[in-house]
Amino acid sequence: MTKVLVATDKPFAAIAVKGIRKVVEEAGFELVLLEGYTSQNDFIGAVADADAVIIRSDKADKAVIEAGNKLKIIVRAGAGYDNIDLQAATAKGVVAMNTPGQNSNAVAELALGMMVYYARNFFNGKSGSELMGKKLGIHAYGYVGKNVARIAKGFGMEVYAFDPFISRQEIEKDGVKWVSSVEELYSACHYISLHIPANSQTKQSVNFQLLSRMPAPACLVNTARAEVINEPDLLKMFQERKDFAYLSDVEPTNKAEIEAGFKAKFFCTPKKMGAQTEEANVNAGIAAAKQIVGFIKNGDKTFQVNK
Ligand code: 3PG
Repeated sequence: MTKVLVATDKPFAAIAVKGIRKVVEEAGFELVLLEGYTSQNDFIGAVADADAVIIRSDKADKAVIEAGNKLKIIVRAGAGYDNIDLQAATAKGVVAMNTPGQNSNAVAELALGMMVYYARNFFNGKSGSELMGKKLGIHAYGYVGKNVARIAKGFGMEVYAFDPFISRQEIEKDGVKWVSSVEELYSACHYISLHIPANSQTKQSVNFQLLSRMPAPACLVNTARAEVINEPDLLKMFQERKDFAYLSDVEPTNKAEIEAGFKAKFFCTPKKMGAQTEEANVNAGIAAAKQIVGFIKNGDKTFQVNK
C-alpha cells in the first residue's frame, strides 16, 4: 500500500492532521505520523518505506532522501523549500513540491501583529505610536507580501513594494507604490517587511549598506528566513542606530548578543510562529496531501520545484 509519511518536528494542528488523513485514506493510501521528533535519525528511519512525505521546515537533506527506498515525492507544506536538498531529490528521481500561498495570510497577520506589538512598546503600559500614516516597504511581493499590503492598507499605512519578478502594473493595481530598486525601498520606509526566499542570491543580502538607508525611526520585520540577514551588519545597525528595531519570527544566531545590548528594540518569537495557525495548517497540509494523491494517481506535477 502507498505510504504517506507526515514528518513534522513542529506538528500541524489536530484538525489539519484529520483533514490530511481523510484525503490520504480516501485515496486508498496509508498515513504514518512522525510528529515532534527530536533526532534527524528518527526521520531517516521513518522515511525508509514511505512513498511520499509531507514536511514543514523539517530538513529533507541528502541523508533523508537517500534513505527513502521507495520515495517518489516530497511536499513542503508551505512556501519556502530551502530545507529540501533539491539536487539530492533530482538525482534520486524524487519530485519536490511546495504549496504556494496556502499559509501566507497567517504569516502576514503575524508580521503586522509584531509591528503593533513594537509600536505599542511591547504592551508595557507606556505611550507608543500608531501604524496609520507610516511608510511600510514590502521586500518581495509574493503571496505573503500581497497579504501584508492588504492588511497594512487597512491600518492606513502608506505601502511600498519592491520585487524584480513582479510587474509594476501588478503592484500598482493593489494600490501599492512601486519602487524600481531595493535601495529606493529602504530609503523611503520606516518599516520594512521581508518576504524574500533564502537562496544563493538573497543569503546575507540584507546588510548594513541597505539597512542604514532607512529613515529614523527604523524597524525591520523578518517573517522570512534568518539567512537573508547579514548578522554582523544587523548588530552594527543596532550599535550605530539607536532608533533601529528588529522584530523577527526567525531566530538570529547572534540573538544573545542582541538581547544583551538592545533588548528594548528587539523581539523574536521562541519558535517560528508565522504559519502556526489552524487555518494555515489545514490549508497547507491538505493541499500537500492532495498534491501527493494527484501526483501518484495522475502524474500531476503542478508545483514541482526541482524541474
Ligand atoms: C513557509 O516557508 O511556509 C513558512 O516559513 C512556514 O514554515 P513552517 O511550516 O515551518 O511554520
